[in-house]
This record gives sequence, C-alpha cells and structure tokens, in this order.
Amino acid sequence: MTVKLKDKEFVPFISAESIDQRLKILGAQISKDFKNDNPILLGVLNGSFMFLSDLAKYIDIPSEFTFVKLSSYSGENSTGKVKSLIGLDSDLKGRKVIVVEDIVDSGLSMSHLLEILQTKEPLDISIVSLLFKPEALKFPVEIDYVGFEIANKFVVGYGLDYDGLGRNLPSIYQLK
Ligand code: IMP
Ligand code: MG
Repeated sequence: MTVKLKDKEFVPFISAESIDQRLKILGAQISKDFKNDNPILLGVLNGSFMFLSDLAKYIDIPSEFTFVKLSSYSGENSTGKVKSLIGLDSDLKGRKVIVVEDIVDSGLSMSHLLEILQTKEPLDISIVSLLFKPEALKFPVEIDYVGFEIANKFVVGYGLDYDGLGRNLPSIYQLK
C-alpha cells in the first residue's frame, strides 16, 4: 500500500519483520563485541528514536543509552550546513561510544558529529546506522554496523521523515 506525505507518494520498501530480523543480528553482534566494555549508545535524534529503542531490546550486556541532536536536514537534500551538538549530558571520557544513526547519506552529519565527539576523549567510537546509501557518500565515514545498504533514493518511516512526517510508520517506504 502506498503512503502519501504532503506532495509525495511512497511505496513499501523494508518490512517491519525484515527490520526486526536484522536488529536481532545487529544486537547480538554488538553484545558480543562490547561484552566487557559497558558501552554508551548515543542515539542521534530525531531519526534514530525508533531504531535505538528496538535495537536496545536485543542488546543483553551492561550498556548505557542516551540521545543527542544534530539537526541539519530539511526536505529531500542535505543542506550542506550542520548545526551544533545539543543534549550531550554524559561524560564520554575513556568510554566506548557507539553512535546510532537512522541513515548515513552524504556522511556530512556523521563526520561532523565524529569531530565533535573526538574532543570528548572517548576510548573509541563505533558507528551503527540502520540505513546506508553508499552511492550518496561524499564525506568518507566508516560504518561498523550497517542495517541495510540501500540505493540512493529518498526513504521514510521507522523514524525517518519527509518534512517532519512519516516517522511513525512501522516500516520503511521509498519515494515512488
Ligand atoms: P547526511 O549528512 O547527508 O549523511 O544526512 C544525514 C541525515 O539526513 C540523516 O541523519 C537523516 O536525518 C537525513 N536523511 C538523509 N537521507 C534521508 C532519507 O532518505 N530520508 C529521510 N531522511 C534522510
Ligand atoms: Mg539523522
């Protein structure tokens, strides 16, 4: 079934079941890789709210969860401008940090975020992104855990929005 958000139509792309299956695997990998590290998972709002809350249920090791915001995006394309980081209330010094993103598109937001996070002197930083568009990457970032590699097409749902709408869709839709 297609979904209409404002002027655009979207078609089903990744089902809730596929997402759940993938998260189970990602959660198990992260739990294994960070077994004795008490990592801090840092969700990037708003897009990662649903992803991190579901992923967290599959992480079965001592771990902490917090959210930050780095807002830079409106409409369909990256603006090329990134604002500052807000909401970081945890001390990252000496910690293993896992950044949790909804999607890495051009990589601008992520590379900017990494720059800021490095100044907090974490032990190391890993990245988990639900979606990754390899063809869109302009700012090289290495993603440690990718949910799904997708084509360079606009998607919504499961936290991702089009002009503020569509975040509540339980699965992912692609622009028709
Ligand atoms: P980047 O800086 O170009 O990598 O863009 C990163 C941010 O843009 C993501 O965290 C999303 O919030 C947003 N974004 C990029 N591609 C899409 C998309 O296809 N749908 C919805 N939001 C997107
Ligand atoms: Mg985002």
